[in-house]
Amino acid sequence: MFPKNTWYVACTPDEIDGKPLGRQICGEKIVFFRGPDGEVAGLEDFCPHRGAPLSLGFVREGQLVCGYHGLAMGANGRCAGMPAQRVGGFPAVRKFPVVERHGFVWVWTGDEALADPALIPHLEWAENPAWAYGGGLYHIACDYRLMIDNLMDLTHETYVHASSIGQPEIEEAPPVTKVEGDMVVTSRFMENIMPPPFWAAALRGNGLADDVPCDRWQICRFTPPSHVMIEVGVAHAGKGGYDADPKHKASSIVVDFITPETETSIWYFWGMARNFKPEDAELTATIREGQGKIFGEDLEMLEAQQRNLLANPQRRILNLNIDAGGVQSRKVIDRVLKAEAEQAAQRAQTSVAA
Ligand code: FES
Ligand SMILES: [Fe+2]
Repeated sequence: MFPKNTWYVACTPDEIDGKPLGRQICGEKIVFFRGPDGEVAGLEDFCPHRGAPLSLGFVREGQLVCGYHGLAMGANGRCAGMPAQRVGGFPAVRKFPVVERHGFVWVWTGDEALADPALIPHLEWAENPAWAYGGGLYHIACDYRLMIDNLMDLTHETYVHASSIGQPEIEEAPPVTKVEGDMVVTSRFMENIMPPPFWAAALRGNGLADDVPCDRWQICRFTPPSHVMIEVGVAHAGKGGYDADPKHKASSIVVDFITPETETSIWYFWGMARNFKPEDAELTATIREGQGKIFGEDLEMLEAQQRNLLANPQRRILNLNIDAGGVQSRKVIDRVLKAEAEQAAQRAQTSVAA
């Protein structure tokens, strides 16, 4: 179960560069492409002629041409023509609300009447030139909530990421979880510790000494449906930690957009936004490579965990205090799902009455 009346990241603009992209999101098979004015369209990935996936076709002058017999579809989901055939009476395919913003293509998978672009989260780092962003995409065979659990409890870094961002001091600093409306915040602060390799490299990248004790922080923020932004960083010890002057620290935001594909698979858009040396493209590439490797370690663990859970449906997973962030996030998701179900029931009742 996943919320559907909400915006998910569907793809990045480079994925629809001159060609259509077929992607399943929340169980819906969708094809994305650029229409005549360059705007992104999202249509049901089903050719009205014989049911071929439209994503196997190609884009010609803003129309999507089916790769089977050449039916052309407009960005509005209507048939636009087919060589030597009359297709004007063909039914339109479902059109999904799609918005390109903040360097991502967003899709609304639920009730079209409720799709308000103002609900797309504001991302300061995506618009402000003082920030640089680098990221990637992983397909992972796991329930989206397992990834949320993973990101809302960074205790696992000590074990899963021992050679990069993990260190024993993480376990020794208990996280604190707060719920603020629909947002869940889990924070952890560590003082006077040596920076682990990833952070030592980031300090060097920012022109700072990497062999001195530091204060380190992780502030994970979950918001529905499944976005997790994590403020992370280190500052030379005694300079104010999280609040230290920028000249003493290397900090960034770990960006996680988790888009469900099915009940047990996700499109995971990961990245890192930083506000030091934003013009340094080489640093962006180095950080991106490091982060990609680290997140590959999560991928392996999560897929193995999902396989185990599927093979043992009778087993219950257990919660410790380190799991509070994930537990609270799941409660928010349950609330959103319940509200959606009530809203749908109400609409169904209204339409019967009408
Ligand atoms: S199935 Fe698409 S044109 Fe025939
Ligand atoms: Fe991880």
